[in-house]
Order: sequence, then C-alpha cells, then structure tokens
Amino acid sequence: MTATTRTRTQVAVVGAGPAGLLLTHLLARAGVESVAVEVRSRREIEETHRAGILEQESVDVLVESGVSDRVLRDGYRHDGIELAFGGTGHRIDFQGLVGASTQLYPQTDVFVDLADARARDGGDVRFGVTEVSVHDVESETPRVLFTDPDGVAHELVADVVVGADGSRSHCRAQVPETARRQYFREYPFAWFGILTEAPPSAPELIYNHSPQGFALISSRTETLQRMYFQCDPAENPDDWSDDRIWSELQGRLGANGYTLKEGPITSRSVLPFRSFVQEPMHHGRLVLAGDAAHTVPPTGAKGLNLALADVRVLAEELERVIGKGDAAPLETYSERALGRVWKTQHFSYWMTTMLHTLPDASPFDVRRQEGELALLSSSVAGSTYLAEAYTGWPGAR
Ligand code: DHB
Repeated sequence: MTATTRTRTQVAVVGAGPAGLLLTHLLARAGVESVAVEVRSRREIEETHRAGILEQESVDVLVESGVSDRVLRDGYRHDGIELAFGGTGHRIDFQGLVGASTQLYPQTDVFVDLADARARDGGDVRFGVTEVSVHDVESETPRVLFTDPDGVAHELVADVVVGADGSRSHCRAQVPETARRQYFREYPFAWFGILTEAPPSAPELIYNHSPQGFALISSRTETLQRMYFQCDPAENPDDWSDDRIWSELQGRLGANGYTLKEGPITSRSVLPFRSFVQEPMHHGRLVLAGDAAHTVPPTGAKGLNLALADVRVLAEELERVIGKGDAAPLETYSERALGRVWKTQHFSYWMTTMLHTLPDASPFDVRRQEGELALLSSSVAGSTYLAEAYTGWPGAR
C-alpha cells in the first residue's frame, strides 16, 4: 500500500500504554517532538484490569513531571504488607525498615492520567490505528507505517523508533535473531483474579502462603476489592461460581487466621505467569521499553514500575541523541535499563517461588520454603531486602 500522508518527527513511539505515554510526555517537556500510535482504543485500554501498586519513584515521576497529582489524592499510601504463613500474619514495615512506602493506585488510573495529560498538552497520540509496521531500523531514518481509523495510510519518518508495544510486541521481532538474546521461564501455575464489591478485608495487602496455594488480598477503593489466588493455568473462569471462589479464598486465608469480607464478584479472569527478557534493548535506531522487552510474573507488582523506570532512563538518553546524530546513547540506555531489569526479574521470581505452592514440591521443598519465610520475617536483614526491593531501588537504576 502507498502511504498517503508522511509526517517527519523526532521520535516515533509504537504503543500508547503507560510506557509510551510517559515517554512522549517526558520528551515533550524536554522539547523533543514525538508521535505515538496505538492499535487499541483508549476505551479498550481503560477497561483492562492490571496491577495496582506504584513504587515511590513511580509516584514521584507522575507528580513531579506534571502529569497529575491525582495519584496522591485518590491513591492510598501503604507503609507495609502482611506476609501470612504458618498460621498467622507477619507485618513487613516498609517505613520502619527503609523509610519508603508504596501507593495503591491502579494502572488504569495511571493510563487515564497520562492520556489526559497528553491531550491537555497537545501531544500527538493516535489510538485505534491498524496495520502498524516498523521499517529501516538500521538506517538513520527509521519509519513506522500505519492506517488511521478512517482507513487513511500514514508514514512516520523519525530519528528513533521506540517499541513500547507490550508483551506481544511486534517491534521486538524487528531485531534480527543474530542480534538478540531471549530468556524465558514458564511457571506451572497462574492467578485467578477477581474484583468484588465489598469493603476492604485488611488495611494493607496480604501475601498469603498456605498448603492450598497462594492468595493475594489487595484493594481498589473503600467499596471495591481486588483479590487473586493461585490456580492451574488451564482453569476456565466460567467454571467458578461466586460461592466456589469465596470458599477457595476463605480456606486459604483461614489457614492463617484471616476472614475475608465477601460481596458480589463483578469480574473474574485467569492471568498467565511468565518471565521473559530480550536483550539488548536496542538495535540500530530501534529501542524497546517496558513489556516489549521484558515480562515479570505479577507477584510483587513490578511490571508497570519497571516500564516506568525504563522510560525515565530512555527519556534522558534520547535527549542526548536527538539532533546530534550519535546513536551511542541508545546502547547506554539498554545497559542502564538492563541492570534494573535483571534485579527486578530476580525479585519477581523470588517472591513467586517463595510464596506459591509448587505442584511437584517434595516434603523437603515445602519445609525449606517455610524456613525461608520464617527467616525473612524474623530477620531485619531479610525483611529489609524485601522492603527495599518492593518499594523500589532508588535512582531508576
Ligand atoms: C496487585 C497486584 C500484584 O501483583 C501485587 O503484587 C500487589 C497488588 C493489585 O492488583 O492490586
């Protein structure tokens, strides 16, 4: 197809989820032009439920860069979590251990704030486009082709193309096999996630290890709660009545002395578990950010935080590239970002394997896991590691 409209921009961003939108926002503040294209509509993204915990620095970047301070007004500050195992809860006191907190504020709201800020500031974001393809990433003028919702074909010619197109990234496949390494890990379980119209069952999140399997009690508002429990990846959400779900959750939490407040269940879905990294995070004039380059299992809620950390580093490095023709900062971006990516991969893997019931675990494995949890919660060094990693290592490193 021949492109009918050609636009020259400095940075073409594929994907307008939180990573793509925060990037274009930060670039605009630094005087760098960009256009973002996204295959989903705004509404579709707003209706996707994702995790709800922001690290302190994720909150700071939204507030300090002028996206919005709604996260401070509508979010809930959490100064710790409960680790429940062995018949009782054990509080990990983030403020006491590392002087940091997290903010309960769903990814959907982060997306809405960013999309509103781009609209307010006149950012060029095209939702609902089709047939997106990326070309000539090894040249100095990489291109993105797409078709707008009216069927008109467009071409973006840029200095740099950013692939922020999520876990099923098309951009990542543009890096030739000989120039990339991919790392995968599968897990033999998934999460069954629900939303329920009920009051909170606890003031803080409960990460609950029990012989029946892991469960996580989180929240959204005073009247809407988010909960998850470990399940078989092949589980069909439609096979689960409200009663069956409550009995599963109450059984797991009851093992550690908690009782949940029940209400009607308004959403149910099964979330897959996977660890994935593609490195390096650049090739020629293409760079990858967020889920396009890496996926973490959900335990510990690092996916969004890691994507925002990538973008903070990428915005800094792109400011150096644009207009100067030197692509070396793209390599620096990849190196800087991968440092945090692998620390976060380890943390998410560790939280996952420490808390879940592994289908093929031997009695030794089970008792060792209980020993690990006891060590973690009874040792200041152990709980400080958890508190520091959970609230986020400072400095986007
Ligand atoms: C939530 C999700 C997580 O994976 C987590 O570790 C904590 C909270 C949530 O959706 O609220």
